[in-house]
Amino acid sequence: MSTETTITAPAGFACSASATDAMDGFELNKVLGAILASCIVLLSVSLAANAIFAPVEPAKPGFQIAVKEEPTATATASKTETVAPIETRLAKADMDRGKAETKICMTCHTLEKNGPNKVGPNLWGVVDRPRASHPGFDYSAAMKAKGGKWTFDELDKFLTHPQGYIPGTKMTFTGIQNADQRADLIAYLRTQSDNPVPLPQAAPPAAAGNSPKPQQTTGSAPQSSPQQNSGSPKNPAQQNRAQNGKSGD
Ligand code: HEC
Repeated sequence: MSTETTITAPAGFACSASATDAMDGFELNKVLGAILASCIVLLSVSLAANAIFAPVEPAKPGFQIAVKEEPTATATASKTETVAPIETRLAKADMDRGKAETKICMTCHTLEKNGPNKVGPNLWGVVDRPRASHPGFDYSAAMKAKGGKWTFDELDKFLTHPQGYIPGTKMTFTGIQNADQRADLIAYLRTQSDNPVPLPQAAPPAAAGNSPKPQQTTGSAPQSSPQQNSGSPKNPAQQNRAQNGKSGD
């Protein structure tokens, strides 16, 4: 007990002796510490601010540009063009371009008569062919359920965006956005047939324009002759083909 008091007493004195120096040291430390602390606070605030704001800034303009440009570029282009009806487009279709475009289709289809089914069914005589009807091809349930037949208009809609027109189709092709290209292609597909379906009429919508079906097998010359691209007379050729008879599909 006594030893402790003797020790603490001088220590206390020692402390009080150098109290002013020590207080200055503490004071300095406090000031430096405060500065350091505020520096650290500022640093961490700016780091946090960077972490919060820096990634946001580039992300916003990036998205804005992407979102704004793409739809306006494609959507307005196709919307403001006001896509003409398929009949009108077929009238000025370019078969050669259409034929060239079928190369894309050929990765999955054959076009020639009696050609084999590949990833997709053979497309000989596909215009006006009942949907999902080609022998030996395993169509998707969606394609079978859709029903109807491949009119010019149906082909036009389907080929714009296959999965959009027939959700669930096995045809994974993305589609042809350009309406004139589709018309070129369909015009060529039409010729790949034993008995090409007459081109639908564009000009007089009040007349038989709505239903191209009745014109099909009758021998009467379609009045739409000026629609052919080259000068070759198509009506006699067509009728000859028709008279040769269509082999059963
Ligand atoms: C990636 C392969 C692929 C490409 C490319 C492709 N198709 Fe297809 N197509 C298919 C498949 C698979 C089916 C069967 C779809 C189903 O059963 O749902 C099909 C079905 C069709 C049908 C329906 C046939 C029927 O008998 O009902 C038409 C018409 C057609 N394709 C046209 C085209 C045209 C024209 C092109 C080229 C612009 C094309 N396809 C490109 C795979 C393809």
